[in-house]
Amino acid sequence: MTSANKKLLVLAGDGIGPEVMAETLRVAEWMGRRRAVRFDVREDLVGGAALDKHHVPLTDATMKAAMDADAVLLGAVGGPKWDKLPFAQKPERGLLRLRKEMDLFANLRPAVVFDALVDASSLKPEVINGLDLLIVRELTGGMYFGEPRGIENIAGGGRKGTNTHTYTDAEIRRLARVGFELARLRGNKVCSVEKANVMEAGVLWREEVTKLHAAEFADVQLSHMYADNCAMQLIRNPRQFDVIVTDNLFGDMLSDEAAMMTGSLGMLPSASLGARDAATGRRHALYEPVHGSAPDIAGLGQANPIANLLSFAMCLRYSFALEAEAELIERTAKAVLDRGLRTGDILQPGKTLVSTRAMGDAILKELEKLGG
Ligand code: IPM
Ligand code: MG
Repeated sequence: MTSANKKLLVLAGDGIGPEVMAETLRVAEWMGRRRAVRFDVREDLVGGAALDKHHVPLTDATMKAAMDADAVLLGAVGGPKWDKLPFAQKPERGLLRLRKEMDLFANLRPAVVFDALVDASSLKPEVINGLDLLIVRELTGGMYFGEPRGIENIAGGGRKGTNTHTYTDAEIRRLARVGFELARLRGNKVCSVEKANVMEAGVLWREEVTKLHAAEFADVQLSHMYADNCAMQLIRNPRQFDVIVTDNLFGDMLSDEAAMMTGSLGMLPSASLGARDAATGRRHALYEPVHGSAPDIAGLGQANPIANLLSFAMCLRYSFALEAEAELIERTAKAVLDRGLRTGDILQPGKTLVSTRAMGDAILKELEKLGG
């Protein structure tokens, strides 16, 4: 391996994570063999898998490897086996630690309806046909990390649970900047989402986004929406949105809603990005499918590997500027769907049910055809 290789840290994690990651690694290997895009792959543990071996959801050594990598590929974390653990030891803490220490403040969650899957949505085809929106979720602040937090006994009896929602102007601006920049590459529209009607942090959010827009992004169309209204508008008329910029907690909820609307939760990738280093141009980055560890089908070879694979495509695009290779993977995924191949999560009448591995085989075959 030469130092020119791209350093990937692969954390397959729990449940279906290892199964879907195996198919992505076959594609990464193909990229090295057929496109001379070589990766230096190191595999390690996160979540429940790390707990079982090391009694923590993420070791310091793995954390360091993540900081040193050019990009981290993550499968999924969590499962019933670890649900009863104290909060600080849960598998999810491993993922949250990665996000926080790598300072991955910008979480990109595209919600795209694939033509072949229009009928898989619970919404009417005419509402979601051609849907392509991007949620840019703040990932290292707000309710998830704010202090004070905890559960305490109240004097005289009873208990109190506390979490704190805070944002600084700088945190809001750096997230909004990512949203505006990405909008310029797409439909040039940003909808900023908060609850300025009830939350001071929401008032600040709206003010800062408005100021940044006026100062640097006046060419982008900006609108503001309360989060509850946004949840409703997503179902009523999702195509009104191009880029949605929102905080950590609202983004968590709205991105699940948007993902499920597409009828293809097993298809949706995500990228979590840190700030670009001004000198080297390097940025920390982690890529993971939006779906979780799906413990009910783990180990059965039924999982859909496409979301994880499309996350790898995002990795090629955002970490390595390999746009042609990223598009090749996206075209390949579309082609296998157009040929009628389906894993169980997206199966429809008249289509061919395939296993995780068979879907991977089909993808590799298609890659040879389209880009070998
Ligand atoms: C997500 C997940 C995580 C979150 C969990 C697993 C901690 O729901 O990535 O959306 O709440 O952020
Ligand atoms: Mg979530």
